[in-house]
Amino acid sequence: MIKKIIPVCEPFLGGSEKKYVLDALETGWISSSGKYIKEFENAFSKYCGVRHGIAVTNGTVALHLALVSLGVGNGDEVIIPNFTMIATAFAVCYTGAKPVFVDADKDTWNIDVSKIEEKITERTKVILPVHIYGNPCDMDEINKIANKYNLKVLEDAAEAHGAEYKGKKCGALGNIAAFSFYANKIVTTGEGGMVITNNDELAEKCRYYKNLCFPLIGERIYKHDDIGFNYRMSNLHAAIGLAQTEKIEKYIERRIRNNKLYRKFLSDIPGIIFPKQRNYVKNVYWMNGIIIDKDKLGMSRDELMIKLKKDGIETRPFFIGMNKQKSLLKYGVDCDGEFPVSDWLADNGLYLPSGSNLTEEDINFICSKIKDLIT
Ligand SMILES: Cc1ncc(COP(=O)(O)O)c(C=O)c1O
Repeated sequence: MIKKIIPVCEPFLGGSEKKYVLDALETGWISSSGKYIKEFENAFSKYCGVRHGIAVTNGTVALHLALVSLGVGNGDEVIIPNFTMIATAFAVCYTGAKPVFVDADKDTWNIDVSKIEEKITERTKVILPVHIYGNPCDMDEINKIANKYNLKVLEDAAEAHGAEYKGKKCGALGNIAAFSFYANKIVTTGEGGMVITNNDELAEKCRYYKNLCFPLIGERIYKHDDIGFNYRMSNLHAAIGLAQTEKIEKYIERRIRNNKLYRKFLSDIPGIIFPKQRNYVKNVYWMNGIIIDKDKLGMSRDELMIKLKKDGIETRPFFIGMNKQKSLLKYGVDCDGEFPVSDWLADNGLYLPSGSNLTEEDINFICSKIKDLIT
């Protein structure tokens, strides 16, 4: 019998993806000039409740482009969570600015807002919160600090499509936001990203810089007054993105359903810790992260992962803190300091299969395997 493998996350292409891609192919519109770019930008930004969407090639460059549009560069500092994916820090470094790390909150795993102010200097330009695993950050507090020190807020919403904070969508909660549409994201284009903003000027800058600083109006003359980038998304990718956006509510429902089932079966097990639920946020549970308390569970995170793998269940360890990334030392980033919560998360956290196409049966199977392993 072939053993069933349950991957951490697979793309769910459940709508008009094929139809739209074939249309793009058949009409020959495969570059970034096709109609699906505008349609995808409009549909996704409208869904988030924001006026402008600027489609790009991935989430990393979406962050970079947003930072460029905010005028971040050499000599500046950007506050980011220490517990995040490396792209958040790299995007800051690409501009010449330095990321400054703030430890995580142990209940939400997001940036600990009570520790932001102590990291602000006269060089700080931007606060860059990340909605980790689809769980919105405490944006009221972050915006309050940003206003007090005259800083801009760039949301890294790569993992938080459709998540809400006090009834407003992630991506609409700061000055500008960046999304990723990598294959494991709730809305995917395979590879892709988008900057969204309500600010006309920032949107215009993003459109300008993303296209090699070709003049936005007038003839396409080869005269470039600024340093630009080619971050243009293709019409083929946008065709997939539009079809995905049409189904976003269904995908989010599935992600939330996955979490409800995991909590139902696992939350009473001593030694398995879920993030705290807050009633004023809608966590979309892009990934179902859990923390393993080795003493209570009788097994470490790594032992559990190895055993689950033998049963065909794939998991992933949590991010390793930015202060532990040698690559950032090469950019001259200050990686000193203590980040005990990030360390705890990195050492003990894992995420369980979380894709939108998992069935209830899959989750029952995963949970019963976990129960078998620990008893
Ligand atoms: C928090 C966060 N920021 C940025 C990115 C970068 O996105 P991409 O992989 O599309 O470049 C990711 C990717 O998974 C992410 O998780």
